[in-house]
Amino acid sequence: MSGESVKVAVRVRPFNQRELDRQSKLVIKMDGQMTMIYNPEAPNDEPKKFSFDYSYWSHDGFIAKEEGITEPKPGSNYASQRIVFDNLGQGVLNNAFEGYNCSLFAYGQTGSGKSYSMVGYGANKGIVPITCDELFKTMGTNEDPNKRYEVMFSMLEIYNENVRDLLSKDNPKGGLNVRQNPKLGMFYVEGLKKVPVGSYAEIEKRMEQGTQQRTVASTNMNATSSRAHTVVTIIFDQIIKSENGETKKSSVMNLVDLAGSERADSTGATGDRLKEGANINKSLSALGNVISALADLSMGKKKIVVPYRDSVLTKLLQNALGGNSKTIMIAALSPADINYDETLSTLRYADRAKKIQNKAVINENPLDKLIRELKEENEKLKKAMEGGGIIQQEAGMSQEEFLRMRKQMEEEIRAQFVANQQLLADSEDTETWDQKLAKAQQETQELDSGGKSDAIRKQKEIHLINLNEDPMLSGVIVHFLKEGETTIGRKDAAPVPDICLSGLSIQKQHAIMRCKKGVVELEPTTGSGAKIKVNGVPVTGNKKLSHKDRLLFGSNHLYVFLNPKNQDSGDDLPPEITWEFAQKEIAQVKGFATTTGVGMTKDQQIAQEQVLEILPMVSEVNAVSEELNKQKSFEVVLISAAAQETTFGTLNNTSVMVKMKNLLNGNTWLWERGKFMNRRYLIQDLYQKFLDGEDVSKIPKENDPFWEPTEDVLIGSANVFLQSLSYSLDFDDKITITDYKGQEEGVVKVHVTPCQKDGTAFEEDAFVDDPHELLGKPYHFKVTVQNVEVYKARFSKGIQVKYRVYKDKKLTETPLIKNTLKPKVNHSKTFSFSKVKKEHLDFFESGCITFLVYGTQEDTTPDPKLMKYSTKELRLMEQGEGPGSATAANMARRNTHFALDHASDQSHLKTEVLLLQRKYERLAAKEKRMQDICKEWDSKPESEKQYEPFYRAVSAVAHSTGTRLKTRVHLLNQHEIRRSSIRKNSNIDDDLISLFVFGEDEDDLQTEADRNDGIVQYDRVKHHHHKDITLMRAHTFADTTTQFLQENAQAKNGHRNIRSAEGGRKDGSTACVLQ
Ligand SMILES: Nc1ncnc2c1ncn2[C@@H]1O[C@H](COP(=O)(O)OP(=O)(O)OP(=O)(O)O)[C@@H](O)[C@H]1O
Ligand SMILES: [Mg+2]
Repeated sequence: MSGESVKVAVRVRPFNQRELDRQSKLVIKMDGQMTMIYNPEAPNDEPKKFSFDYSYWSHDGFIAKEEGITEPKPGSNYASQRIVFDNLGQGVLNNAFEGYNCSLFAYGQTGSGKSYSMVGYGANKGIVPITCDELFKTMGTNEDPNKRYEVMFSMLEIYNENVRDLLSKDNPKGGLNVRQNPKLGMFYVEGLKKVPVGSYAEIEKRMEQGTQQRTVASTNMNATSSRAHTVVTIIFDQIIKSENGETKKSSVMNLVDLAGSERADSTGATGDRLKEGANINKSLSALGNVISALADLSMGKKKIVVPYRDSVLTKLLQNALGGNSKTIMIAALSPADINYDETLSTLRYADRAKKIQNKAVINENPLDKLIRELKEENEKLKKAMEGGGIIQQEAGMSQEEFLRMRKQMEEEIRAQFVANQQLLADSEDTETWDQKLAKAQQETQELDSGGKSDAIRKQKEIHLINLNEDPMLSGVIVHFLKEGETTIGRKDAAPVPDICLSGLSIQKQHAIMRCKKGVVELEPTTGSGAKIKVNGVPVTGNKKLSHKDRLLFGSNHLYVFLNPKNQDSGDDLPPEITWEFAQKEIAQVKGFATTTGVGMTKDQQIAQEQVLEILPMVSEVNAVSEELNKQKSFEVVLISAAAQETTFGTLNNTSVMVKMKNLLNGNTWLWERGKFMNRRYLIQDLYQKFLDGEDVSKIPKENDPFWEPTEDVLIGSANVFLQSLSYSLDFDDKITITDYKGQEEGVVKVHVTPCQKDGTAFEEDAFVDDPHELLGKPYHFKVTVQNVEVYKARFSKGIQVKYRVYKDKKLTETPLIKNTLKPKVNHSKTFSFSKVKKEHLDFFESGCITFLVYGTQEDTTPDPKLMKYSTKELRLMEQGEGPGSATAANMARRNTHFALDHASDQSHLKTEVLLLQRKYERLAAKEKRMQDICKEWDSKPESEKQYEPFYRAVSAVAHSTGTRLKTRVHLLNQHEIRRSSIRKNSNIDDDLISLFVFGEDEDDLQTEADRNDGIVQYDRVKHHHHKDITLMRAHTFADTTTQFLQENAQAKNGHRNIRSAEGGRKDGSTACVLQ
């Protein structure tokens, strides 16, 4: 059977506000079916090109109509929702009517526009609603009395490998089971609610119900749903009567809004000892693997097992991917430069998906036959259940294993039996369908439709409206306030509060809102210790609210207060308050820089995004720590590129990390973002178990996401820059150890010095005036850590310094010294380059050695006094002044962190100053010596003036000491010696003139001389003769040198730079010394 490829479309969205604020660059171009992506770091490179079934340009070229519907401007290639539906949705619809299974899934990074394409926002409805709408419209045109339709709707989400029915209030712990049909091998969700629907409006209402469920779950159970996959399934049956009985054409439409693919760098989790426990991205990565395997299969690779079984999502999408389905994938693209890496990976993903071959068949069968088969199968299943002999105990299988497998098999058979029975009941009797539909419609009707349908009330009444990380889930929950008091708290409070919230840090009686003639005040319930923030600032007393105020109850119930009666909001606020806006504000109050980011590097922008993403998670984890009394606190820390140790030649980025602190003994741990995210999922899981009534206090520490074995803590780092090595000078200084906040934690005394191979010091000065002179020669230098001084007493348990030189694979470690804050380390190590290369010079010039100072931590028994306190109290004590921990100093410290690393800057400057000082000293000494020689020469009687020794003396001084101002030039007599012979001829000095050239092009000349064995063309230096010659010597037999001497002879009298031009006439040489 020949297959049909998965259809792939890509779509690029407009810039969002953040991207506009930071003046992002567009990296996507489209031309017909072609999509091109430009690398913002290499803008002149050819773009990478991809071709798809459709490349949708939805970035610009549109106008918003009154109702908010966006449409293309005349002449633009903007792809509106309608165009996307016409191309893709219509096909789905046609196929469904023909009886094919269809699948449509949206893939892309978080915030790239998956939900916009699938579901849509406001008036811009996406493919799913339009398709459903059109489905019923088309059904409505049916005039065939022998044909009737049955439509069923279901909606589920997969989060952390749990399946939750979004249309059902009671989901079992751990989610619904995914089972495999023992006969057909297909997977299905056991007990998933399938609601009969008779109109598009019913579907719309059910989708709202599902969305509301997600929203409530996302705030209450603290499981962030934007990382969940949402699957809407529409089962569309057509029952056609003919002379031979009834046939049923059946189409299953799976519409999948995938969770955002994570940023590529979540590698931190790989280092976590608890990584096995988390299933964060299991479904998404399994999907990637399935797609790759299928792509390989279609390319003719053999023996590939498609790993459908690896995740819940791939089990459920088995048909959609390489099976009986017509499948479409939409890859949503972000247009902005900052997302280049993710967007490119999305394009590659989409490119692979193109290759998948499906084999869709029309699902049409006589109803009788279907019923008969179902009955037969059920008979078999029944027998199997009764017989119990479903599987045999095989050799080598333990009794336990056998029993477990048998139990599982029995469950699967029973589940299938129940499912079949259901199907039978559905199929056998038309009455049942109509009755079921009527019942379902009744239920649909009664649904509390949530925020979206309360448009009219919202225009008049004061209300709160929720904000969620996922814009799809924002504005879904509305609470109207009544005149007088409205209480807020948990539903287990007595009396039951007017607004019930549950979840982290929500007190039984949390807050009271008082509404009097359009004026509203908010107050935390007295004595409850309830956490409330208004516009990012913690509230303790009575607070009058203004229109558009942002209210945070507990750790993650975020609402906007809207007062249609008094729309005076005071501040300069955006027209629509978003989750992002509110989070930014919270971050700002906490002291994190949240400027718009113009002029920030890409690295800093990414770090800023990560901070905004991770901050709410950190407060959530802190709240769980309090609730479960884990005695740990968490904090976001930013580590600038300069404060991190690195291998030379690799780039560091600002790292966003999370610090965990043991509140009892002060021990700390630094977690990479990926590791923290991983832990957070495990912590959510643990908290969920706690909510489900499990006793989680006895969890063994090995499995406890809050527990971590003690590890050395990084006290701080100190950078030593190495320019001095370029000049063979040493560097010897005390450098400040600063922590990630730029706070001084101590000093380390370090000596870096060039040395001989065995590490011994040079007897003489090895100073070179130009680093290039080191090229090609061996080079050795010794790094000595003399001593360390650390300020904080708690680090006295042990101190150790670690550092990496150049590209060393391993860090060099000094011995651990215990029980002192001032260890005398005296560690030295010699490093060698067998032949200095340009890259080594670059290392000296721009690289540095980062000395990482570590302190030993021990799992000390906590102070019994502290044990009395709850985690909440401990955290308050730690913060000093209670909830508003944002002291000015804290803020200032954090704010500086996006900017420059002061400590590292300082150390850089110090090195440079030191170097310049050394150079200056040497230059002064050299000048002095040269002047002495000249004086001596001057004072000699004419008869004793011998040129050779004088020349040698001046020359030696000039060569041995250095500044970059000197360039040694060998001038070649072009007419007599060909280049090739130069290198061989050891006698070439006879044909050369030594020139010392000061001037603007010395660097150029040096480069040329380097390339040419120290020789440059005469023409290049001719013009220096009059102005800049300080000293020269020439033999007289060549034309060029004759000319040279003649010119110089003219120069010697008139030129201002020449102080002495006499002497040495015996061998026809002249010497000049610069004033
Ligand atoms: N084609 C588009 N035209 C206009 N706005 C768009 C378009 N695509 C996306 N957006 C806007 O971008 C924002 C993010 O889009 P959306 O919610 O669809 O992302 P997502 O991929 O579903 O993200 P997540 O993974 O978090 O669910 C929304 O505010 C949405 O309105
Ligand atoms: Mg979405």
